[in-house]
Amino acid sequence: MNDTALSPSPTETLSVKDNRTGKTYEFPIQNGTIRAMDLRKIRVDEDDFGLMTYDPAFTNTASCRSRITFIDGEKGILEYRGYPIEQLAEKSTFLEVAWLLLNGELPTEAEAKAFTEHVCLHTYLHENTKKFMEGFRHDAHPMGMLLSTVGALSTFYPAAKNIFDAKQRAHHVIRLIAKMPTIAAFTYRHSIGFPYVYPDNDLSYTGNFLSMMKKMAEPKYKVHPTLERALDVLFILHADHEQNCSTNAMRGVGSAHTDPYSAVAASTAALYGPLHGGANEAVLKMLREIGDVKAVPAFVQEVKQGSGEKRLMGFGHRVYKNYDPRAAVIKKLADEVFEVTGKNPLLAIALELERIALQDDYFVRRKLYPNVDFYSGLIYEAMGFHSDFFTVLFAIPRTAGWLAQWQEMLLDPDQKIARPRQIYLGPARRDWVPFSERRETTAPLVA
Ligand code: ACO
Repeated sequence: MNDTALSPSPTETLSVKDNRTGKTYEFPIQNGTIRAMDLRKIRVDEDDFGLMTYDPAFTNTASCRSRITFIDGEKGILEYRGYPIEQLAEKSTFLEVAWLLLNGELPTEAEAKAFTEHVCLHTYLHENTKKFMEGFRHDAHPMGMLLSTVGALSTFYPAAKNIFDAKQRAHHVIRLIAKMPTIAAFTYRHSIGFPYVYPDNDLSYTGNFLSMMKKMAEPKYKVHPTLERALDVLFILHADHEQNCSTNAMRGVGSAHTDPYSAVAASTAALYGPLHGGANEAVLKMLREIGDVKAVPAFVQEVKQGSGEKRLMGFGHRVYKNYDPRAAVIKKLADEVFEVTGKNPLLAIALELERIALQDDYFVRRKLYPNVDFYSGLIYEAMGFHSDFFTVLFAIPRTAGWLAQWQEMLLDPDQKIARPRQIYLGPARRDWVPFSERRETTAPLVA
């Protein structure tokens, strides 16, 4: 998208007639949108606040103009800065992709080398962070530990508040990308009661992460190249996905000019939810619950007959109404990983579930296809990661996307502190009453 693409064409307008007043209004259309603020001009009288739109969950509202990620959900297309995800997954490394998201272009060889070295320089955590993490209960969920610890980093780096100082901002972006794998690995080691392993900066980004996760007494961890590359590809696939729930949290919190560590903590919290990053954990739970290939038809029937509370986890997407292109790459990757690790026994159930769902009218009519989470959990499990760690594996690469989106938001003169409107449907103004005149609350939500 270039700037001319954003300027209005005078012939592209929308005429709206307000039947309450008989007045007609004309609004410019830009990039398939009208400005919501233009609707405020539609009023019945001087005291009227003006018309708004009601759009819970932002299903039809563009909250920003972005140049980072393009998705065509109907066609199953995902591009970062114009590059198809399939090409990036085949040919690039995760750190190259992080650079691309942050800077708009793929790095030259020299830039990629310097960026990798720069990231490697910042993988260590302050020793007090380690002590802080030791305070969590032995069974603390790693996502809870991750979001608290990344938030706590803001207290170690108070200069990160200088978000409009380009040099400072870049410095903290690199720190965050570098330290997320270290915090993540420490949460894992904490959960299994093993000593924390310090970064080995001779290794690649994913190689070092695997070393911090798995190394025991050996002087140097030997990374399996297939698994190292598979994890790098998974990181590329998860690096950004335009305005999803956690990115919206990053932009929303960041719009208050909060420091990036606190904003990443907020987006990590959003990602924690089972409808977002927690879905691959839920997929494995579901596959275990099904237990056997023969039980798949009955499970699908149960999903179809329920009133929406039981879902086929790893299926459906707010944006993709076609096969999620990331799921297609992951499905291929699974074979390479299983060749090293052995097949995950749940794979047969997953394949049967996909086969049945893709030809069932219920799923076809609703355009429900496998999403990125359907197969990723199977690979992660085969690589030896616990299911409650899967969302952490999502948060590490998504940090690059969150930061790219945050940076774009900060530099966008159109943006202000995020502050949606509401339609108030509560009681009209009334006077306070003493106990003697109050009636019991019907069905209190909190008692
Ligand atoms: N299984 C069964 N039915 C489903 C599913 C599913 N996984 N997803 C949607 N539907 C049905 C709904 O019941 C609804 O049916 P109805 O029209 O008869 O009421 C219809 O499809 C539309 O569903 P919505 O909930 O309106 O779709 P929405 O866009 O709000 O939800 C979501 C998208 C949350 C991803 C949903 O598909 C879902 O819950 N999927 C399972 C969880 C999951 O895999 N999440 C990971 C998403 S990818 C990511 O975050 C990285």
